[in-house]
Order: sequence, then C-alpha cells, then structure tokens
Amino acid sequence: MERDRVLTGGANFCILDTVSVCESRLKVVSAGNLRFFSRSLQSILEKKLGRAGTFTALVLKLRPGGGQHGKNDGFLYSQVDIYDDHMIHEVEGCREGYLKMAELVPEKTKTLLDLGCGTGLELEAIWTRNPGIAVTGIDLTSAMLERLKKKYSDRDVTLIEADYMACELGTERYDAAVSFQTLHHFTHEEKLGLYEKLWRALKAGGCYIECDYMAETQEQEDYFFAEKRRLEEELKLVKGEYYHFDMPCTMDNQKRLLRQAGFTEVEVVWRQENTTILYANR
Ligand SMILES: C[S@@+](CC[C@H](N)C(=O)[O-])C[C@H]1O[C@@H](n2cnc3c(N)ncnc32)[C@H](O)[C@@H]1O
Repeated sequence: MERDRVLTGGANFCILDTVSVCESRLKVVSAGNLRFFSRSLQSILEKKLGRAGTFTALVLKLRPGGGQHGKNDGFLYSQVDIYDDHMIHEVEGCREGYLKMAELVPEKTKTLLDLGCGTGLELEAIWTRNPGIAVTGIDLTSAMLERLKKKYSDRDVTLIEADYMACELGTERYDAAVSFQTLHHFTHEEKLGLYEKLWRALKAGGCYIECDYMAETQEQEDYFFAEKRRLEEELKLVKGEYYHFDMPCTMDNQKRLLRQAGFTEVEVVWRQENTTILYANR
C-alpha cells in the first residue's frame, strides 16, 4: 500500500502511523469509530483535520522485509528526521519517560539489550548517566537504525536489524534489558514468548524495564483487542503478519505475563498519562 493512498469501503478502518500523521500524509476518508489510545495522536489528528471526532485511517502493514519503502522498512519511519522531535514533544510522557528509564537502569550495568531501539532516544538518556554501557539494539526499521548509528558513532553499540519476536536473544548475556514504546501491538501470547526469551537472555540478578502505553482497565484492553479482531476479519489481514495497531494491555496483565515468564518483583514504578514503566527482576 502506498503511503498516501486512501482506503475506502464501508468498514471503519483504523490503525495509524504517527509519522504519517505528523507529515500530513495521512488521508482520512470518513468518520469511523476509532478511539485512539494515545491522546497525543488523537489531538494531532484533530488539529490536522480541524475538527474533533473519530476517524478512519490507513492500515499499515508491518513486516520485516515486507515494508512499502523497501527492505525492513515496514514501520514507515523512513521520515526519521521528524521522529525524535515528535516523540519528545508530542507523545505524552515520553520525554520524562526516557529520563526516568535511565534513572532506573542499575549503575552496575555493563551490558544492555534494547528491544525496538529506534533512533536511540532512551539510549541517549541512559548513556548520559552511564556512558560506558555496551548496548545491543534490535529494530526492524533500517532507517531508524541508520539514524541511531549516525548519532552515536562513538558509543559501544551493536545494532541488529531484525524482528525481536523471531530472533534469538541468547542466554545470560545481558545485565539489563529495556524496551520503550514498542510492544503495544502484540497479543498476550506473543508478549509471553518474548518475555520468556528475555528472561533467558538476562543474567541472574538482571532486570527488564519496559516503558509503554498501558491500559488502566480490562474494559479498555478488551475494546482494542476486539477492534483488532474485527479489523482482521473485515480487512482480511493475514495471520502472522504485523500491523500497526495500538492494543495496550492493562498494567495488571503486563505484570502477570512477566511473572509467568519467570520474572520476580514486577512493579509499575512510574506512569504519566498512559505511558507507564514496569520494572521486573530476573
Ligand atoms: C515508537 S518506536 C520506539 C523507538 C524507541 N524505542 C523510542 O522510544 O524512540 C517503535 C520501534 O519499534 C520497532 N519495532 C516494532 N516492532 C518490532 C519488532 N517486532 N522487532 C523489532 N523492532 C520492532 C520499530 O521499527 C520502531 O523503531
């Protein structure tokens, strides 16, 4: 699908890519019943359209190697120039969340894994406090990794262009692991599989810190999961492919999944709007 092609058809298409919105490339064709979980996205869209309401938007396919801008570019972050600014200034809780996450990374950390590292915004905060940390960053999107490489060429960083759901993370390799705003598109089963891999990849006594949109109530979570199922049927989305659709889990479910994967002492340690940080000990 081309970035600015309009999807028409009776259904309430949804799914939104933040960069398309920022770039005004998103064409909205009719009112749908979409509720955005992220209030910043809702308000950006309202500003662009000059009206409040609910929207119908593009469906974006997210697939390693299958993106519309070439290899491994499925997340549509090819316009990375505006990405950092958008996250820092427009997404609620991010600027503060990057700093908070950096504070939470234990001082003794020498090796750190970052899932969905993007352009390295959380890493900037982490390196500011602890410049010696050796980081392994995994991300699907080549343009984001290129940007990270350019910004931090002087750092000890290994970048892997891959799907963190599918790739091996190793055994007892890292003192700590982080993820920032990357996991709110996955089901419980997918997350559990990833958390189990992460548990194995961490050294004993290590920790995992996740910052993401998280829902407050089961009702909220159920709404977004049901919308995803509806879209899968209506749009005949292909099983096993990734689509960018926000379906945040509740904080309670997140904690349960991490405990189920073997983590102990899993706590919500910070929250601003829906942006929430969980800290889990291995
Ligand atoms: C919203 S960005 C967050 C980037 C960075 N953590 C930050 O906070 O600025 C989400 C990132 O997760 C990456 N991503 C999403 N799903 C992924 C997957 N299955 N494997 C690897 N990276 C993924 C995207 O390519 C994108 O760079």
